[in-house]
Amino acid sequence: MREFARIAPLQRFLNGLRQRKKRIGFVPTMGYLHEGHLSLVRLSNKENDATVVSIFVNALQFGRNEDFSRYPRNLKRDRRLLGAAAADVLFAPSAGEMYQGDFQTSVTVGGISRPLCGVSRPTHFSGVATVVLKLLNIVNPETLYLGQKDYQQYRVVSQMAKDLHLRARVCMAPIMREKDGLAMSSRNVLLSGEERRDATLIYQALREGRTLISSGERRAPRVLQVIRRILGSARLGRIDYAEIVDAETLAPVVELNEHSKALLAVAMLFKRTRLIDNILMEV
Ligand code: PAF
Repeated sequence: MREFARIAPLQRFLNGLRQRKKRIGFVPTMGYLHEGHLSLVRLSNKENDATVVSIFVNALQFGRNEDFSRYPRNLKRDRRLLGAAAADVLFAPSAGEMYQGDFQTSVTVGGISRPLCGVSRPTHFSGVATVVLKLLNIVNPETLYLGQKDYQQYRVVSQMAKDLHLRARVCMAPIMREKDGLAMSSRNVLLSGEERRDATLIYQALREGRTLISSGERRAPRVLQVIRRILGSARLGRIDYAEIVDAETLAPVVELNEHSKALLAVAMLFKRTRLIDNILMEV
């Protein structure tokens, strides 16, 4: 695996690949990799000639009281995992390489950034969109791979790609889960033992919601009542949101229509560690 910390040598290397007609897939990450990230690398390997993975903990997408300084980091471990997953290129820039001192441009994607995570993290998706656009301009891949756990992020980036006529196709891959159902996340290591046990309620609640809908319940408030009751039994976690929204627009759904695509989405806070999860379903 080739590793780059600077933009110019990375671009020289990738230009060489493109001249040889190689297809490039790109997996942006903030590191502390888990099976969810590695599944994206494997998918990209299958669909492309070369896979580039970036590791950059992007300060711009963290709010002032969020966990930027606590966010887990271990480049040595990530390098080993990426080597084993057969990634071709690791791009791990410094903050100074990504944001020069006079940096003053940011990207804001409108409506789709506002509900769900956008309520308690009003600047988050602008930070995400800005860094993803920068990374896309640097790497210039055929396809960008994102995980479904961050479904709203996938929708925001897809909207940006459409609105700004970006060349890259945006591809979403399924959520990877621990044995007990908890969605894999780099933040899971920040939980105490008891918080970790409480966190399994998230997927239990979502599954219960899905079962209710599958067995014919069409009133979203009824489904949410059950989801919130299960989440409410957590001793250490606090519900940030539990919502059922249209999977395309992320607008709240009251009555689930047949043949519509809905997203059951939850965010829970364990002190300053915020976990999100979702289930996407065709009604
Ligand atoms: O999902 C993430 O890890 C980040 O939001 C991303 C896409 C790498 C941008 O910093």
